[in-house]
Amino acid sequence: MKAVVFHGIGDIRLETVRDPKLKEPTDALIRITASAICGTDLHFVRGTLSGLEPGATLGHEAVGVIEEVGRDVRNFKVGDRVVVPSTICCGYCSYCRAGYQSQCDVAHPKGPHAGTPYYGGGEQGGGFDGLQAEYARIAYAAANLVRLPDGVSNDQAILLSDIFPTAYFGADLAEIKPGDTVAVFGCGPVGQFAIASALLKGAGRVFAVDCVASRLDMARDQGAEVIDFNREDPVEVLQRMTGGIGPDRAIDAVGLDAMAPSAGPAAKEAKKHRAEFRKELKELEPEANLRGKQWRAGDAPSQVMQWAVESLAKAGTLSIVGLYPEGRLFPIGEALDKNLTIKAGNTPHRKYIPELVDLVESGVVDPAEVLTQTEPLTDAIEAYKAFDLRQPGWVKVELKPAPKERKAA
Ligand SMILES: NC(=O)c1ccc[n+]([C@@H]2O[C@H](COP(=O)([O-])OP(=O)(O)OC[C@H]3O[C@@H](n4cnc5c(N)ncnc54)[C@H](O)[C@@H]3O)[C@@H](O)[C@H]2O)c1
Ligand SMILES: [Zn+2]
Ligand SMILES: [Zn+2]
Repeated sequence: MKAVVFHGIGDIRLETVRDPKLKEPTDALIRITASAICGTDLHFVRGTLSGLEPGATLGHEAVGVIEEVGRDVRNFKVGDRVVVPSTICCGYCSYCRAGYQSQCDVAHPKGPHAGTPYYGGGEQGGGFDGLQAEYARIAYAAANLVRLPDGVSNDQAILLSDIFPTAYFGADLAEIKPGDTVAVFGCGPVGQFAIASALLKGAGRVFAVDCVASRLDMARDQGAEVIDFNREDPVEVLQRMTGGIGPDRAIDAVGLDAMAPSAGPAAKEAKKHRAEFRKELKELEPEANLRGKQWRAGDAPSQVMQWAVESLAKAGTLSIVGLYPEGRLFPIGEALDKNLTIKAGNTPHRKYIPELVDLVESGVVDPAEVLTQTEPLTDAIEAYKAFDLRQPGWVKVELKPAPKERKAA
């Protein structure tokens, strides 16, 4: 089958790889009808997230049709249309039962302390092949897959695999109560859905910070008050526009590829921290690509956390869903001084997806509004390049494989 394969920083290829097979009685095989490119994939290709071995298939978002089920998959049948949660859980350990599916004790083959298992994360992610492919083996299928009703299209459902649940989880961690003022940092796909999720939870005002005009336009269309950090200092604006108090909640939807402002009043302030940012980059992301335009890593890993902590109201909440490597990035002293609550995590996708499927089916949210491109899987590399450069109008890219229906073995 065709799949997008990682070979190294800046080196991804569309290749023919071996078709997946059922391995365990709890597995299912799906034919993928929609996949997508995510900011997380970019971290690998830019070298900011390390540990992915050459030859690993990329991608962790998919919608598909079941082609085969193992004997312990009793709740699905061949032909069912399903959405795949990006993270993998067993469904029976104490963490899964309590709604912490991303901290599952069982699904990572290297044991309960090996991290969150997910598709396309290489050995570190549990060795599960990626979903930017034509077919996939789904582990613990009964506990993970979510059946799609006819009223939810593939274009809508692909956003339910990772992006909408992550943003909704971000809004949940932020403890948003009706009337709250929320600042969302980052207006990529996760940021866009964080805005939508904050509004669903009754936020009174939502601010959105980024520097890409088309992404800020999309945020404004949702009702967010937008701030371009290359024109204004986001901390100053957030403080001034909230009577000097600051937002009650902040959501970091950027992660370790955060950029420092390159122009405007915030650039001056960021320059003072340039040496710290360089040190962070060296310690945390020694392999990151810092040259050229394509696959270029962010130059200020802790920028968003600094801005969030600085701008938040006293006793406010910071929710971090943007990805970071292990290390000491966080301005803990400043957070302590303001009595902030800080919550962070890998999304327990399976916990939220059924609820979000209902919201989409009933017409409350149309996630396909964030989908700006649909490209054939065969054009994946070009699509990756445009998404990486944040080309105007490129917010979320669906990849469409064209797999043939196969007969069950
Ligand atoms: N926690 C989880 O389980 C989980 C799941 C999915 C994605 N993620 C992470 O969420 C993050 C966002 O994903 P995405 O697909 O939207 O990525 P993306 O790369 O499309 O979007 C990131 C956005 O942040 C903006 N940005 C950069 N520096 C900024 C700054 N200083 N201030 C404000 N905005 C800034 C960029 O311009 C871009 O629009 C990534 O780190 C991704 O890995 C986490
Ligand atoms: Zn993703
Ligand atoms: Zn479990």
